[in-house]
Amino acid sequence: MNIAVIGAGYVGLVAASCLVNSGHQVTCVEIDEAKLRLLNQGTSTIEEKGIDQLLKQCLSSGRLSFVSALPKPLQVDIVMITVGTPSLPSGAADLSYIYNAAEQLRDAARHPSILVMKSTVPPGTGVKLVQRYFKNSPISYVANPEFLREGEAIEDWYHPSRIVIGAEDNKIGERIRQLYFDIDAPVIITDITSAETIKYAANAFLVTKISFINEIANLCEAADANIDDVARGVGLDPRIGPDFLRAGLGYGGSCFPKDARALDFSALNKGYDFRLLKATIEVNTKQRILAVHKLKQLLGGLAGKEIALLGLAFKPDTDDVREAPSLDIAYLLDEGGAKLRVYDPAAMENARPLLPPSIAFAPDIYSATAGANAVVLITEWREFIDADWQAIKKQMKEPYIIFDGRNALPQDKLIALGFKYMGVGRRLG
Ligand code: UGA
Repeated sequence: MNIAVIGAGYVGLVAASCLVNSGHQVTCVEIDEAKLRLLNQGTSTIEEKGIDQLLKQCLSSGRLSFVSALPKPLQVDIVMITVGTPSLPSGAADLSYIYNAAEQLRDAARHPSILVMKSTVPPGTGVKLVQRYFKNSPISYVANPEFLREGEAIEDWYHPSRIVIGAEDNKIGERIRQLYFDIDAPVIITDITSAETIKYAANAFLVTKISFINEIANLCEAADANIDDVARGVGLDPRIGPDFLRAGLGYGGSCFPKDARALDFSALNKGYDFRLLKATIEVNTKQRILAVHKLKQLLGGLAGKEIALLGLAFKPDTDDVREAPSLDIAYLLDEGGAKLRVYDPAAMENARPLLPPSIAFAPDIYSATAGANAVVLITEWREFIDADWQAIKKQMKEPYIIFDGRNALPQDKLIALGFKYMGVGRRLG
């Protein structure tokens, strides 16, 4: 098929490359001139496993091109919108990029084509867009949310757990099913608003699962139980499942926090108070603050204490620090008077402008931890788990605290080395 993709961000670039790889012809629209230049040279503008090679392959196939505006008149089978929907200060999703793209499309459309909305938009948005922009136009509308994880996006594209297609008309829905002819996954064809709701409900459920297990971990600390055994014992029930039961410092990233807030706002706006979601968001914030309080208690105050923070990215294998727990934790520790040294294998440059200038950036884990009274693991990078903890212990200072914010470090080994170990929902060692 002949496809235009609007927005070469994280979802757009992955979608465009994967669609070309499946044999489609794709024109990708990117307004940022600097990004456009890089993309046309075959340089990826996102950090994603496998994207560099895939992008080069796609460009040399001649079936992928990057342009600065939608060609006019537009002659394609499908237009995919993959622009961002960031948070407004109210928590609502900012739909200005969506409106911009819809306007561009309305102005360029002369021939029948299908608008496939991949961006995450609140329930009801698609129906409104159709009324506002495409009532008497050759454009049909389909909501087709993505479920890609950062770092695994290409793998997730080809092996999704499901394909969700929301269309006004079944025939149009079937056309979009053909777009994914080479992907083996259950397909759900529904109406536009239900498809939009599936995306938010999935993310809302996942964040609820994370906040739930964090609450249970906090309860374990109060009740002297062990979260590892509790999570395993709970997760073995197939109705619950073992995934997303890792207790820790909570969720961050470019999707979960903003989508949770946007759904809460959108529900309220429709007259429904989604209290469970509000509690989930609150627990996630609390988890970061609680970590700082626990550390303060264990250290007997923060003022003048040397603390090493390991990991700034919101999860391992990415340089993304958007809404990462590290930022709040670093800010609160700094405010409490601690002397901080931070290290992350990939996210230092992204974090630097977001952190107070008093925080020192160390070139590796060993310089970060030298002379520290406490080490806090915030992101469970493999290199932290495999580090030489004996060497680290030797160069640290009393009281040799390790706060394992992701329950990822070898607890027994660290205790045997003489560290004072604290996890999340684990017994103090
Ligand atoms: C998430 C979803 O997993 C994707 O399905 C979805 O498509 C995407 O958001 C989106 O809406 O676009 P991603 O943001 O890449 O993908 O992150 P995840 O790998 O799901 O992790 C999110 C956060 O939850 C991380 O901060 C992670 O540390 C935390 N987490 C995850 C936990 O604290 N505990 C867990 O058990 C699992």
